[in-house]
Amino acid sequence: MEAIGQLTGGVAHDFNNLLMAVLGNLELLHKHTAHDPKAVRLIEGALQGARRGASLTQRLLAFARRQDLQVGPVNLGNLVGDMADLMKRSVGSGIIIETNLPAVQVVVQADANQLELALLNLVVNARDAMPAGGSIRIALRQVSLPSEKGDLTSGDYGVLSVIDSGHGMDEATLEKAIVPFFSTKELGKGTGLGLSMIHGLAHQLNGSLKLASALGSGTTAELWIPASDENQVAKAVSPQQHVVSENQSPKRVLLVDDDFLIAMSSVDMLTDLGHEVVEAHSGLEAIEILKRDARFDLIITDYSMPGMTGGELIVAARALIPGIPMLIASGYADLPSGVELDVGRLGKPYTQQQLALEISKALSGH
Ligand SMILES: Nc1ncnc2c1ncn2[C@@H]1O[C@H](COP(=O)(O)OP(=O)(O)OP(=O)(O)O)[C@@H](O)[C@H]1O
Ligand SMILES: [Mg+2]
Repeated sequence: MEAIGQLTGGVAHDFNNLLMAVLGNLELLHKHTAHDPKAVRLIEGALQGARRGASLTQRLLAFARRQDLQVGPVNLGNLVGDMADLMKRSVGSGIIIETNLPAVQVVVQADANQLELALLNLVVNARDAMPAGGSIRIALRQVSLPSEKGDLTSGDYGVLSVIDSGHGMDEATLEKAIVPFFSTKELGKGTGLGLSMIHGLAHQLNGSLKLASALGSGTTAELWIPASDENQVAKAVSPQQHVVSENQSPKRVLLVDDDFLIAMSSVDMLTDLGHEVVEAHSGLEAIEILKRDARFDLIITDYSMPGMTGGELIVAARALIPGIPMLIASGYADLPSGVELDVGRLGKPYTQQQLALEISKALSGH
């Protein structure tokens, strides 16, 4: 499992970088060919394919637990309610979805987007187990564990269950269900990453995925996620609002990435936004440039680079130009633990709009 995780994470990371170059260039091309409807259609097709690839790498990274989770309080009842339409459309008309939501609010500490994906994956699994139709029950409850239980520590949990009346799993299948790439579905129908991704996510959130099933009597999948003690209302009232000014005033940017493809596409995006860009391909090269010429408004650097990491570059650059705004771009969360970077983060792959947004945040000191 460990080895597969490392391999998958590595492949997904590199793949993510490639997609970043593809997406970035297509986006720019899209802008420049807006007058040609045929070209626009072709480019939109290519963009869609690249985005699908990006969402697949997100799943792979989730499985390898290298994903950048945006953890915060999530109201599970609302999440299920908001997903109702999408779930209905995903299962088709032969399957009824019933939801059992408690009157109390169940708020957990999680990543809302990833949790939505997980729920959708469980619902799709339930659908696949009921080719002749049936019903799926989605239930929610809050559980207080007085003491440690299995892989869960004591405390409060939100438990989201997806219960189907499908064909179920025999013991051997149940045992392997969460193994990455294990699938009983025909070629092209399943990658076998759904449950392993959910399992990875649950673990990353200090929760757990529990499966109960028997041949012929359906399956129950339970997602246990630690309850949140943050005050959700207080958070919801003061969302961070950032308006990207359409015309950012031109800035002088130092862009650092060891990957030439990415550096190139990022430079193109920045130039297209009207900025003046100097490019470096290692931390040391960046430092050399800064020593010769300190007239930069912003530094954008990759995190994982051979020799000097983005984190080390930040420290070194600050020593040369105190207070210079910086952004760090990284494809996954594994900034080594203990590394606290007080600079803005840009998740790869990023779009030109996200880039513009993060730049305006960095420059306004957020
Ligand atoms: N609700 C269920 N009922 C019966 N079998 C299930 C159910 N959920 C999962 N399984 C079994 O576990 C296997 C692995 O599930 P998983 O979601 O990880 O992969 P998949 O559904 O085959 O492919 P993917 O989710 O990547 O498209 C399935 O192929 C199926 O055999
Ligand atoms: Mg699945």
